[in-house]
Amino acid sequence: MTAAPHDISLPASLLRTLPGTAYADPDVFALEQERIFERMWICAVRGADLPGPGSFRTVQIGRESVLVVRTREGGIRAFLNACRHRGAQLCAEDSGEVKRTFRCPYHAWTYALDGSLVAAPNLAKMPDIDRVEYGLLKVHVREWLGYVWICLADEPPPFERDVIGAAVERLGNAEAIEHYDTGQLTVGRRITYDVKANWKLVIENFMECYHCSTIHPELVSVLPEFAKGYAAQYYVGHGAEFGGAVEGFTVDGRPGVSRIPGVTEDQDRRYYAITVKPQVFINLVPDHVIVHRMFPVTADRTLVECDWLFLPEVVASGTDLDASVELFHRVNVQDFAACERCQPTMTSRSYAKGGVLVPSEHHIAAFHQWHRAMLES
Ligand code: FES
Ligand SMILES: [Fe+2]
Repeated sequence: MTAAPHDISLPASLLRTLPGTAYADPDVFALEQERIFERMWICAVRGADLPGPGSFRTVQIGRESVLVVRTREGGIRAFLNACRHRGAQLCAEDSGEVKRTFRCPYHAWTYALDGSLVAAPNLAKMPDIDRVEYGLLKVHVREWLGYVWICLADEPPPFERDVIGAAVERLGNAEAIEHYDTGQLTVGRRITYDVKANWKLVIENFMECYHCSTIHPELVSVLPEFAKGYAAQYYVGHGAEFGGAVEGFTVDGRPGVSRIPGVTEDQDRRYYAITVKPQVFINLVPDHVIVHRMFPVTADRTLVECDWLFLPEVVASGTDLDASVELFHRVNVQDFAACERCQPTMTSRSYAKGGVLVPSEHHIAAFHQWHRAMLES
């Protein structure tokens, strides 16, 4: 990606952000839903949240409700959550379990877990109806890091490039993330945050650490280099090192829980952060992984689902996870409050041309260029 042309009305140290309207205008939001969220790979559901055949979740991706289900064979399928007869939403619940089929509550068209139409009143009298063609509309599914990723595009972009590639690009090599064995970890805690801010403010905030010393006292005492304002994401392959007296990635630096066995000596006592556009943050520390998934609701509201993942035996043993969870929970609350503080200004005349990025935030300009390119595509 080439650098943004420098705005000659600005001093060389500064780059422009997107204009305020990009964060507040419902028309921009609608275009983002269509051209970003309905075209890219979206991290939708933790696989373990679909424990057995017939377990399902519904999730909003772009403008679509998507039904994600565990099949009888143990795989995962995803469909548009819409009955093919006259369009009733098939599942109104966020999650649940069916025995063998989904039955539309309107006229009882009934679909198997593979999406095919298996029954309908008088179906025998309509032998020309193809049960696959009138089955639920399938969308693309991949599993990675223990999550179900969904793409609504007819032709999905390469998963290896867009999703795995983001981790490789950040960490500098393909194996580094595998050491954390994220797919085998267990959700020890999940917190959903209802953030009254545009999803891009949340991403931009995550990408920089210029704010760390102002709003994250606990994080900076665990990762003292963050006080300098350079995020782990500023450098390829860099993990922020724990402070000398810090024993674990916990709210007060006390020891954490058992280290993930695959984590190498190089990765020990370090924090790595990855952004997978458009809606995932992955945070790696030696004894747990924190995954944020963002679900934009409106231009000024974003739900953020945050999972703290630990070794299964750590969770099963009932080990107290509070000190580990509390550190990033506080970071989240501090970050989201900052994003919410910015949101009202996005419609102010003062922000009509946007704000500015200082040098330690310049890498965010690449995100803005990507955003512009996606909306024009
Ligand atoms: S709309 Fe679903 S069966 Fe008629
Ligand atoms: Fe932050």
